[in-house]
Amino acid sequence: MDYQRLLQDVMAVALAGERRGRPADYIPALAEADPSAFGMAIATVDGGVFGAGDWEVPFSVQSVSKLFTLALALAEGGDGLWHGVGREPSGNPFNSLVQLETEQGIPRNPFINAGALVVTDRLLELTGDAAGAVREFLRAESGNAAVDTDDSVAASEARHGHRNAALAHFIASYGNLRNPVDSVLAHYYAHCAIAASCRDLALAGLFLARHGVRADGSRLLTRSEAKRINAVMLTCGTYDAAGEFAFRVGLPGKSGVGGGVLAVLPGRGSVCVWSPGLDAVGNSVLGVAALDALTTATGWSVF
Ligand code: DON
Repeated sequence: MDYQRLLQDVMAVALAGERRGRPADYIPALAEADPSAFGMAIATVDGGVFGAGDWEVPFSVQSVSKLFTLALALAEGGDGLWHGVGREPSGNPFNSLVQLETEQGIPRNPFINAGALVVTDRLLELTGDAAGAVREFLRAESGNAAVDTDDSVAASEARHGHRNAALAHFIASYGNLRNPVDSVLAHYYAHCAIAASCRDLALAGLFLARHGVRADGSRLLTRSEAKRINAVMLTCGTYDAAGEFAFRVGLPGKSGVGGGVLAVLPGRGSVCVWSPGLDAVGNSVLGVAALDALTTATGWSVF
């Protein structure tokens, strides 16, 4: 397959669309992103890396980091994680508080903010440095030592992070955090504020296409754990639009409010798209359009 040509064609289809969406502004540092930016990269299990547009420009990974915290927490701590976080779609916005009260402080899934805070807490307990573990993993898998937290984005989110602070305190009130709320929040903001490119993230997501095997050939997760992460990405990775994403794209995917979306085709490869304009749910408008066009053109799907 001529991946380079495919990416150029898909980019042209996505950019031809009228809708652009708007960059997230509830984290002020993200509001400055250029809404016309667009990048896309494909990494294949047999070693190919292809890109188009701004595919090597770093952007704020935000919730795409939650896929890596989940993988690392499972790798380090195993299945016990599922006692503190569920794996059902929430059907609510990613930063919603409502279900926590009737569900005893156990968040619905690891990808809404509440669930990601629990995962970050467990990864912090297991490693002593949750954000550092994510940074190291991204550097190792991408081969890019420059992947790092953008401290100004983390600080901007912390200053305006009343919702996440409320979620973390509420979860703590049910006894479902093992570290002080302030440490959990600091690590959460720091891994969300990692800056990485489509190239970096496509390479870092390949372990899911390789059924749990890392770039150096070592095994991070069992085949079954990798399958489960892909399953949770499919059902919960794009929040209350996960049904629409599965309908249009048909691949496990994880989005972030920086405008990135990382999708996986198990056994074959991974693809990352970035464009900062978001829809009302918080998913990149052009990112989802591009993945729709890519999977339509290639027939790629897990179904
Ligand atoms: O906690 C937040 O609100 C952000 N750091 C991450 C949210 C996010 O990326 C949701 N994605 N669509």
